[in-house]
Amino acid sequence: VSIETLRVALGERSYDIRFGAGAVAGEGGGEEFARSLAAFGFSPRSALITNPTVHALYGAGVERAMRAAGLDPVVVTVPDGEGYKTWDWLGTIVTELLRARLDRGSAIVALGGGVIGDMAGFAAAIYMRGIRFVQVPTTLLAQVDSSVGGKTGVNHPFGKNLIGAFWQPSLVWTDVLTLATLPRREFLAGMAEVIKYGAIWDATFFEYLRTRREEILALSPEPLTRIVRRSCEIKAEVVGRDEREGGIRAVLNYGHTIGHAVESATGYTRYLHGEGVAVGMCAEADLAVRMGVCGEDAAARIRELCRLYELPVSVPDVSAEALLEAMALDKKTLRGELRFVLPEGIGRARVGVAVPRAEVEQLLGVART
Ligand SMILES: NC(=O)c1ccc[n+]([C@@H]2O[C@H](COP(=O)([O-])OP(=O)(O)OC[C@H]3O[C@@H](n4cnc5c(N)ncnc54)[C@H](O)[C@@H]3O)[C@@H](O)[C@H]2O)c1
Ligand SMILES: [Zn+2]
Repeated sequence: VSIETLRVALGERSYDIRFGAGAVAGEGGGEEFARSLAAFGFSPRSALITNPTVHALYGAGVERAMRAAGLDPVVVTVPDGEGYKTWDWLGTIVTELLRARLDRGSAIVALGGGVIGDMAGFAAAIYMRGIRFVQVPTTLLAQVDSSVGGKTGVNHPFGKNLIGAFWQPSLVWTDVLTLATLPRREFLAGMAEVIKYGAIWDATFFEYLRTRREEILALSPEPLTRIVRRSCEIKAEVVGRDEREGGIRAVLNYGHTIGHAVESATGYTRYLHGEGVAVGMCAEADLAVRMGVCGEDAAARIRELCRLYELPVSVPDVSAEALLEAMALDKKTLRGELRFVLPEGIGRARVGVAVPRAEVEQLLGVART
């Protein structure tokens, strides 16, 4: 297995993301993973946090690697689903860590998608005022997005991710071959975030996604590793400039203002997050055209690429009122003003563009299926 390393430069919180196709999922893999774990000198008392679905697929391999690195993990499984990303389950995790007597030199390994990564990272942030953690992301969304940037947390009945902390991992280990078992719809939803990186930051990458579509959809390891890596590089570069989201980090929210509203106005049942983002990217590109920020051609190319990855591209038939209401409640709107990240072309975006409410209303009124 050949391993590539990407250094995320965040001063003393810097860490490596390592990419190896087969390094976690492969037969007899895990050796290189075990070596990099061992290099940290974690205390033997440690935890593997995962869910039953992912544990059944990759748990044995990861546990084997942890043992080979001298660790003796307690396995904590949280039921599968966003509905378990709660304060209550966080409490259950922490209780298990205390029972297993993890100490300040211990580490948590998070094996799973964004739900597990966010919760395990938050547990690491608060256990004994903070212990180290390692991510093994197994969804495309987690590999390109949630495992980079240090946001951790849980949901509250009042809203998603309302409780949390910034806490960077010590190491992220990504094996794109784990995506072979991921439901196709989840994979495609993750592609929306990948398309987003091209749209806001890198026109060459955007074009690569178009020309190599077939291989990417066939999960060919070489292009897949390349797009996951490039996505992490872009996110790491943005986060490196603005770790706590004061300015430029907001560029990562392209497609998310309308995307979140679409998810929320449909009760979080109709769309996966990435599907909402695809709808949001297309609608916000149209908004950019209306505002004279971007040409029609760029908006058309964004819509075309979303279509090529079988993502929804038009706003569903819910009232413009409901969508605007949801946007107003979004914690990223400042003082009730509607501000958007708008593409200026392929590979460039402008943050914090104030858009008159009437303009958004008109857009939502006409952008229907
Ligand atoms: N921290 C951040 O910066 C950040 C960024 C984006 C999203 N998030 C969070 O991420 C979460 C969504 O993450 P997600 O999309 O990975 O969802 P998820 O963690 O729920 O995983 C999706 C589904 O895929 C299953 N699964 C995971 N890996 C698999 C594999 N290799 N094979 C088969 N099945 C597999 C899971 O069990 C689950 O049923 C949300 O809670 C969101 O708030 C966080
Ligand atoms: Zn997102």
